[in-house]
Amino acid sequence: MGSLPSDCFEHGKFLFVIVFIVVTLNCLTTKANLCRNNSVAAPRIPAYDILSSLQTLALDGYFSLEDNGHAAKDFGNIYHCPPLAILHPKTVSDISRTIKHIFEMDSASQLKVAARGRGHSLQGQAQAYQGLVVNMESLKGSEMVVHGGEFPYVDVSASELWIVILHETLKHGLAPKSWTDYLHLTVGGTLSNAGISGQAFKHGPQIDNIFQLEVITGKGEVLTCSENQNADLFYGVLGGLGQFGIITRARIYLEPAPIKVKWIRVLYSEFSVFTRDQEYLISLENTFDYIEGFVITNRTGILNNWRSSFNPEDPIQSSQFNSDGRTFYCLEVAKYFNPGETEAMNQEVDQLLSELSYIPSTLFLSEVPYVDFLDRVHVSEMKLRAKGLWEVPHPWLNLLIPRSKIHEFAHEVFEKILSDTSNGPILIYPVNQSRWNNRTFLVTPEEDVFYLVAFLPSAVPFSTGKDSLDYILSQNERIIEFCKRAQLGAKQYLAHYNTREEWEGHFGTIWELMRRRKSEYDPLAILAPGHRIFQNSKADTNLLLAM
Ligand SMILES: Cc1cc2nc3c(=O)[nH]c(=O)nc-3n(C[C@H](O)[C@H](O)[C@H](O)COP(=O)(O)OP(=O)(O)OC[C@H]3O[C@@H](n4cnc5c(N)ncnc54)[C@H](O)[C@@H]3O)c2cc1C
Ligand SMILES: *[C@@H]1O[C@H](CO)[C@@H](O)[C@H](O)[C@H]1NC(C)=O
Ligand SMILES: *[C@@H]1O[C@H](CO)[C@@H](O)[C@H](O)[C@H]1NC(C)=O
Ligand SMILES: *[C@@H]1O[C@H](CO)[C@@H](O)[C@H](O)[C@H]1NC(C)=O
Ligand SMILES: *[C@@H]1O[C@H](CO)[C@@H](O)[C@H](O)[C@H]1NC(C)=O
Repeated sequence: MGSLPSDCFEHGKFLFVIVFIVVTLNCLTTKANLCRNNSVAAPRIPAYDILSSLQTLALDGYFSLEDNGHAAKDFGNIYHCPPLAILHPKTVSDISRTIKHIFEMDSASQLKVAARGRGHSLQGQAQAYQGLVVNMESLKGSEMVVHGGEFPYVDVSASELWIVILHETLKHGLAPKSWTDYLHLTVGGTLSNAGISGQAFKHGPQIDNIFQLEVITGKGEVLTCSENQNADLFYGVLGGLGQFGIITRARIYLEPAPIKVKWIRVLYSEFSVFTRDQEYLISLENTFDYIEGFVITNRTGILNNWRSSFNPEDPIQSSQFNSDGRTFYCLEVAKYFNPGETEAMNQEVDQLLSELSYIPSTLFLSEVPYVDFLDRVHVSEMKLRAKGLWEVPHPWLNLLIPRSKIHEFAHEVFEKILSDTSNGPILIYPVNQSRWNNRTFLVTPEEDVFYLVAFLPSAVPFSTGKDSLDYILSQNERIIEFCKRAQLGAKQYLAHYNTREEWEGHFGTIWELMRRRKSEYDPLAILAPGHRIFQNSKADTNLLLAM
């Protein structure tokens, strides 16, 4: 674990010097290995030759060869793999012509291409070591078009942020149905993963709410795809970790947007009571519109946070609530409503709450505008940024745990592995995937009902204690090891693996399908190298051709 890559590149320039002195060789070697594993040895045509030939293409946008450090950085702030160049496309055709050129240059060319949305990846997934990063955000100017009617939808550029889509669709009284907790993410970035949040139990993840996509394959073709047209590509790209194409446009289903949200938090001291209530709520036909939950570990600081982040109309009981240093579980739910429906909404909420078994003195209610509710994490972002606590390493771990194993998991992880630490929020909530689309490439556990458990710690730079990057990474490793050892049937979400074998295990029964689609849409494995799934494209492709 000690050899895990601490941040060699930038945590601020002066800090860089200190790290450099302390860990010089070890760190640099590790980092180099880590990045180099993304590419394949001995390319026949050196990447920079391809690059110079690329520069002869007459594009609307341009390539930048210098000052590209930001493309070697992401929200995780753990992996830093610099690209050779960045493409700043102005048009879709800039991207397709570039990829087509790389594809046609030579089958052994090793210039890899990574689409970069906002770079909110955690482990270098949007990076391309010695490759080409496509800065999707420069692809602006394509208009957002909202269509009303019985099945409303919006057409957007894949580089658009969800927060921008929210504001635009609200002008028409409409909004997407399924969200992420944080909206300053791109459509292309979340659709490559899934987009899971408190609405997914009802509407499925974001990838289940897409009508049509425009995609550039690893051969440089621009294809429109949907359930009825190029369906293999459509479902391949949804949850496909960028392996089959770069999404350039998306048509997203909308629903009438509410004006306001009743936002509710209640606490439990018993894990089994907490999960029973959560599972009950997601099983109802008429229930809340959003259901999540989180763990409050044995740290009074976190408990205070639980209230202060939630400023309005704090009832007296909850402000007097004392944690006694125990672990609590917070159920967080929301009900959408419009002014004029307040009374009916309150009755429904009272009815639902009356069936739950939370600690009565911990009922915490507020009413906020719909936008404020959806954009809630941005408020925390601003606060953390102001304190310089946003751009720290984020060794996050997202797991999907089958319902039948969640108690075993909670016992081991919350009470043992994490008993003496608390470095950030831990989200935990169930979904029932029986009505989710099972043709996408999102990998989930086998049981219908599973829990999303998200460990969202921040590491303190240069700490050597329990809040250090190394310590948190080793805790994550213990959690992953436990899941394996106890055979929980867990899956990683926003998965990260270093070896081919681990990826095979992750994809399980759809691994063969994955390889087939890869050989069809990105046969030279040019795209999305940061996931390290197809590290050796030649071998992979030849194997397939021989089959
Ligand atoms: C604060 C925070 C909260 C989050 N909350 C949630 C949550 O509630 N639910 C959830 O599901 N996720 C959540 N995420 C994770 C988020 O979905 C991922 O970070 C995702 O990568 C989106 O970020 P991005 O748009 O910056 O994409 P990037 O990090 O830039 O890219 C992500 C991956 O997609 C590829 N990619 C990017 N654009 C495209 C494209 N147009 N076409 C094809 N591939 C592309 C990249 O190559 C990379 O492999 C959260 C992340 C953060 C930082
Ligand atoms: C990279 O590859 C080398 C050699 O195959 C291996 O020793 C090293 O552990 C790999 N690093 C990572 C982070 O996978
Ligand atoms: C919780 O924290 C308190 C104060 O730090 C400590 O005394 C207590 O033993 C802890 N309880 C558990 C269950 O870890
Ligand atoms: C999941 O949803 C399906 C379909 O609505 C339902 O039949 C099933 O009972 C649910 N599973 C659980 C464990 O609640
Ligand atoms: C996928 O879903 C369809 C329709 O809901 C169902 O008929 C099919 O059996 C499912 N396939 C798998 C592998 O679960």
